Amino acid sequence: SADAPARGLHVVITAGPTREPLDPVRYLSNHSSGKMGFALATAAAELGAKVTLISGPVSLPTPEGATRIDVETALEMHEASRRLAEACDLFIGCAAVADYRAEAPAEHKIKKTEGEDDLTLRLVKNPDIIADIAAERDTRNGRPFVVGFAAETRDLEAYARDKLERKRLDMIVANDVSAAGLGFGSDDNAALLMWRDGDGEGGESLPPQPKAQLARAILERALGCLPTRPVH
Ligand code: C5P
Repeated sequence: SADAPARGLHVVITAGPTREPLDPVRYLSNHSSGKMGFALATAAAELGAKVTLISGPVSLPTPEGATRIDVETALEMHEASRRLAEACDLFIGCAAVADYRAEAPAEHKIKKTEGEDDLTLRLVKNPDIIADIAAERDTRNGRPFVVGFAAETRDLEAYARDKLERKRLDMIVANDVSAAGLGFGSDDNAALLMWRDGDGEGGESLPPQPKAQLARAILERALGCLPTRPVH
């Protein structure tokens, strides 16, 4: 219906950073606040969807109407995402997943070594969660519709286009995170939307606005792609 265009749809959203342990007391992470993903979850619930929010460590309240699954590491987020994406209609990867994790987190606290000024950490690549979901979609009936994010400080359109194609996303939301007052941690954001098959080579630009409002616009555009999407 017009007031609940997402009724009957299951939307899965990843949000926030991941936290990769180095030892029992230390970790690698990033500055993602989770605000954009949580705003998307709020908007999806308001539009009538069943919403599952897979969240890394953030300090935000659970959006009303969303089921929240808390994870810490990229591997945990990967596992939860694969399990939940299987039966969803729309998967939105908004999390800032750590690209690398410690190959072997130390069992005990890493100590300073007398006379050694260097410490080498060996990192290994984390799985690309959204690329895996998109690859699995291609082996099924074309579901879920997969939406990714690209936070860039330069060449926004070119890097986003590359991610869209390389990860086989259906749609990408590109943010210029170097713009003052926008992106990471802030309450406002602007975005450039691009699609894999199709309309508007240059994408569609959404002006700076509160994340809640932007989330609603992004969801409406993604939902609009669902019914007419060719199934293969
Ligand atoms: O490559 P980059 O991290 O910039 O791509 C961003 C997009 O890919 C986001 O949608 C993010 O959630 C997703 N991603 C992921 N798993 C990773 C890295 C990124 O799902 N390991």
